[in-house]
Amino acid sequence: MKLFDVYPVNEITIVKAKGSYVWDQEGQQYLDLYGGHAVISIGHTHPHFVARITDQLNKVAFYSNSVRIPLQQELADKLGKLSGRPDYQLFLCNSGAEAVENALKLASFHNGRKKIIAFKRAFHGRTSLAVSVTDNPALQAPVNKTDNVLFLPLNDEAALEACFRAQGDEISSVIVEGIQGVGGIHPASEAFLQKIAGLSKQYGAVFIADGIQCGYGRTGKFFSHDLAGVNADIYTMAKGMGNGFPVAGILIAPDIQARHGMLGTTFGGNHLACAAAVAVLEVMEQERLMENAAEVGAYLMGKLKEMPLLQNLRGKGLMIGFDVPDELKELRKNLLFKHHIFTGESKPNTIRLLPSLALRKKDADEFLEAIGEEMEELAGAVKVEN
Ligand SMILES: Cc1ncc(COP(=O)(O)O)c(C=O)c1O
Repeated sequence: MKLFDVYPVNEITIVKAKGSYVWDQEGQQYLDLYGGHAVISIGHTHPHFVARITDQLNKVAFYSNSVRIPLQQELADKLGKLSGRPDYQLFLCNSGAEAVENALKLASFHNGRKKIIAFKRAFHGRTSLAVSVTDNPALQAPVNKTDNVLFLPLNDEAALEACFRAQGDEISSVIVEGIQGVGGIHPASEAFLQKIAGLSKQYGAVFIADGIQCGYGRTGKFFSHDLAGVNADIYTMAKGMGNGFPVAGILIAPDIQARHGMLGTTFGGNHLACAAAVAVLEVMEQERLMENAAEVGAYLMGKLKEMPLLQNLRGKGLMIGFDVPDELKELRKNLLFKHHIFTGESKPNTIRLLPSLALRKKDADEFLEAIGEEMEELAGAVKVEN
């Protein structure tokens, strides 16, 4: 049987991983500044993570939500503490798109409305509602097209106000990434997030903060939206939550009421997933990884600022993006195949850095040296041409 060919892949087979490094089958070591789409939060194969999952696997790996699973409450308590939202409620599921799907659906159940405000360049996933709020028509099948979603420009307060003024009583929710990830590391401004919070409250809409890529400590705050000092009604979480184990969830404000059957999933919140997610939070807390993300991120940002060829440097903590000029268009490929460093990209010319929150300064230096070498080579080539 052939694999359904939907992914453009690099011809690299990873057989081993540790911390911020991975190895291929020839034993070549790579620095991982991408974490497989921002998923590796505490570092590959962290011993505490491996031990917690192994231990749980030997007890009970799965039972459905038809029985009490105390690990879910343990996870909820830890999440409440680390996110600073002990009064919120937790619903567990399995992937980012599923978290978004549940958030949008719950908002609509809550206020009985249908329309959703989303933003240009947003990415929220590929299932039906999630893809309908994703600003990429190529990802939407005809069955996903809907008039219920209004796309507005990010950070345009006047457009947001006008939209609410015109149809505020029909808006069910506003969904926004604190920093757009797939769209190319574009932060929502603090003033814009505050405006969303204010207008949502005023018009009875649900403010949904998509923290799937920018959240879970990556910016130095638990949710990047926290940088604006706002409280969303629902937060979505996935990627970093399980450090590679598929687990996701939504945090739900206390005034949104549950009823039996409203949301559900077979696999969500299973024993193994909860053990993985608890282990991640324990390591984040013990190793102060949010602080590390802020510190190493600021260090990396400071050094990258000194490289004038890299354009439009942006982001926060360990979520960093910059544009590459035409002369350096092979940079990402050279980083991977010459310097053995994984980075992410956004078309047409953005490099995205989304390493583990445990990245050390010396790992960052390895990357900075590689970029420096590429610049020197470019300067040398220009000199020879002249
Ligand atoms: C901000 C954001 N939301 C949602 C998703 C969808 O997550 P998943 O791929 O786990 O469905 C992603 C994935 O990249 C994302 O970056």
